[in-house]
Amino acid sequence: MQVTINVNGEDHTADVEPRHLLVRFLRDDLGLTGTHWGCDTSNCGTCVVLLDGEPVKSCTMLAVMAAGHQVRTVEGLETADGLDPVQQGFIEQHGLQCGFCTPGMMLTARALLDRDPDPSEQQIREAISGQLCRCTGYLNIVRAVQWAAHHPAAAAAATAPSAGSTP
Ligand code: FES
Ligand code: FES
Repeated sequence: MQVTINVNGEDHTADVEPRHLLVRFLRDDLGLTGTHWGCDTSNCGTCVVLLDGEPVKSCTMLAVMAAGHQVRTVEGLETADGLDPVQQGFIEQHGLQCGFCTPGMMLTARALLDRDPDPSEQQIREAISGQLCRCTGYLNIVRAVQWAAHHPAAAAAATAPSAGSTP
């Protein structure tokens, strides 16, 4: 099937099998390996990307289901203005250890802050509750999201995806 999917602001058209997973489309076809693949059973959440601004697990979504939609991956978080505040927050608060869960965590955080710029700690914990950090670094992940929430000026500039940027 021919699909056109907008990824990080750029349309990509490809012939894919109906069973082709979105995570495979992003990683294998587009080379966007920032989207990680950790379990294949919809448990870990490291494959989370944004579909029209909402977090989805790309390992349990078919590429054809994303046709005509906007996908944002971790490669699309940075803008011409610089790092997304969520990315900066993970740096400032040391929100990662091995970094395997980090792309999905950051995208979920971005969606949360776009929806609610000042979430409570409980709301942050609920937002990331579908994702596992194998290093169990949840405290600093929460602090990283709080850091980003407290820098709203930079956050406003980060809502538009930019194609071809790196995290
Ligand atoms: S790889 Fe998708 S939930 Fe684990
Ligand atoms: S930082 Fe290692 S899995 Fe989260």
